[in-house]
Amino acid sequence: MADPVDLRRGVRGAGGTRIRFRRPSDDATLLRRLYQEAVDQDMPPDHPLLTGETSAALDAGAQGGPSMIRQRLTGRTLFEMYLDYSAVIVAESGQSVIGAIFLAPPLQLLDDLPSPTAARVVTAVIKLTAVAVSSSHRSLGIGSSLVKQARAAYQPCNTALMYGDFDGENQSLGRFYTGRGFELFDHDDVVDLSPIVGTPFYIREGEGTDRLFARRISPAYSFPIRRSGFLPGF
Ligand SMILES: CC(C)(COP(=O)(O)OP(=O)(O)OC[C@H]1O[C@@H](n2cnc3c(N)ncnc32)[C@H](O)[C@@H]1OP(=O)(O)O)[C@@H](O)C(=O)NCCC(=O)NCCS
Repeated sequence: MADPVDLRRGVRGAGGTRIRFRRPSDDATLLRRLYQEAVDQDMPPDHPLLTGETSAALDAGAQGGPSMIRQRLTGRTLFEMYLDYSAVIVAESGQSVIGAIFLAPPLQLLDDLPSPTAARVVTAVIKLTAVAVSSSHRSLGIGSSLVKQARAAYQPCNTALMYGDFDGENQSLGRFYTGRGFELFDHDDVVDLSPIVGTPFYIREGEGTDRLFARRISPAYSFPIRRSGFLPGF
């Protein structure tokens, strides 16, 4: 396994950028604009990914691996764990942020789960909610650097898989994700979380032309991540 990355200090990315965790001093308006560009949805200014103390589990993972994370998470509420596992990683060029990737456990899936199971999902499944690079800096490899460092940051945390969805009509985005090691899912495919939850439990795509993509993060997680052949409304 590669050495843990220190995204508090930052590492070198493509196009002369520095890839690092968001800092409180980063321009939140700019981050919200990047988010909006990726998912076509506003991010409220008080969103916990912008205002909360994120990434503590990733820091612990980088410093001491899963045992340090276990210590860190003892006694934490589900929402605190959600923040600990969330991250906004930015690409900085000079003094300016020119790209960002937003990652968070899938809070919306947890509602119906008992809390020990929900805690397992928070620590094992991460959603790549959005990735965007400012239009004047695209095709320089910066988006790829953001995805690569996100994966490297979650690997020491024993995160089983990373997934997301995108507008399937944008075929170049499909190529972007497959080129970064993700599998693209057909419309009747679901992400299978059953081994993590302990009972049959699946993620399926959202509305219309949305398509799921997913990949394993921990090499130790050996279960299939895709199940095929689910009809809409299963
Ligand atoms: C998708 C995006 C983040 C890629 O960032 P980037 O820095 O341009 O990507 P890279 O330079 O690392 O390019 C990686 C690959 O994506 C392809 N690519 C480049 N620009 C692209 C674009 N506008 N759309 C899709 N794919 C693109 C490249 O051809 C490259 O392919 P290769 O690995 O075969 O050479 C960027 O195009 C973007 O911000 N798009 C708008 C926001 C968005 O749609 N985000 C995704 C939805 S969450």
